[in-house]
Amino acid sequence: MNNTPIIDVKNLAKSFGQNHVLRNFSLQLTQGENLAILGKSGSGKSVLIKCIIKLIEADEGEITVLDKRMDDISQDELDHLRARVGFLFQSNALYDSMTVRENLEFPLRAHWDKKKREQNAEKAVRGVLSDVGLAHTINMMPSELSGGMKKRITLARTLILRPSIILYDEPTTGLDPVTSREISQLIVKVQQKYNTSSIIISHDLNCIDITSNRVIMLIDGRCYANDTFENLRKSSDARISEFFN
Ligand SMILES: Nc1ncnc2c1ncn2[C@@H]1O[C@H](COP(=O)(O)OP(=O)(O)OP(=O)(O)O)[C@@H](O)[C@H]1O
Ligand SMILES: [Mg+2]
Repeated sequence: MNNTPIIDVKNLAKSFGQNHVLRNFSLQLTQGENLAILGKSGSGKSVLIKCIIKLIEADEGEITVLDKRMDDISQDELDHLRARVGFLFQSNALYDSMTVRENLEFPLRAHWDKKKREQNAEKAVRGVLSDVGLAHTINMMPSELSGGMKKRITLARTLILRPSIILYDEPTTGLDPVTSREISQLIVKVQQKYNTSSIIISHDLNCIDITSNRVIMLIDGRCYANDTFENLRKSSDARISEFFN
C-alpha cells in the first residue's frame, strides 16, 4: 500500500454567515482505504465532501485530490478530476425521464468521445449493471425501481467512468436494514473489484462497520476522533459513546 494520501484535507474551514460548519478540519485518505465519516445530522458531513470536489468553495485550508490542489485548479482539470472521483449524492439523483440505460450512458457523454461511446458504451453499461446485480433493469424507468435498486443504479453510474475514488453521501439512508446491509456489502465488493478508495459518510453504524477500515468522527466542525470502528465502539468518551448507545 502506497502511503501518499490521495485526498489530503488540511485545516479546512467553511461557514455560512454565522454558522461555522467546519473549523480547522483535517483528514487524509490513502490508497485502498475505506474511510467513514460519522457525525450528527447538520454537523457538516455533506458540506465536507462537497468542498473536497469543489461543489462548495472552502473559506480556508488546503485540499489536495490525486495530487491536484483544489484552490488553483483550472476548469478543464476539474472536469477531468471529477471523472476520477465518483460522487454518490445523498438523494439518488437519477434522471426520472430517462431509462436505466440512458442514465448510465449520461456521464459518458461528457467524458468519452463519440467514437468511444459507439464502440464501448453498450458493453460498459452491461458490465456495471451486472456488477450491481441489476442486468435485467436496463430498459426500465427509475419509477419502476425500488429505493435499494435506485441506489445500485446510482452506484453503477458512478462506476462506469472507472473512478479511482468514490465519495458516498449516506448510501443507505431511507433503506430497510436488510437492503442497507446489501448495499454496504456491495460497496465492499466494488471497492475490491474496481480497486477504488472511498469516503463513506453515514450515521448508519452497521454500514460503517461493514464498509470502513477507519472512522473519523466529525464533531464541532473538527476531527474529534480517528480510529477503527471497533475501538470507537469501546470508547468511554461520552461524546463518542452517545453515537453507539
Ligand atoms: N448551501 C448552503 N447554504 C447555507 N447553509 C448551508 C448550505 N449547505 C449546508 N448548510 C448548512 O451547513 C450545515 C451542515 O450541513 P450538512 O448538509 O453538511 O449536514 P450533514 O452533516 O450532511 O447532515 P445530514 O446528516 O442531515 O445529511 C447545516 O447547518 C446546513 O444548514
Ligand atoms: Mg448530509
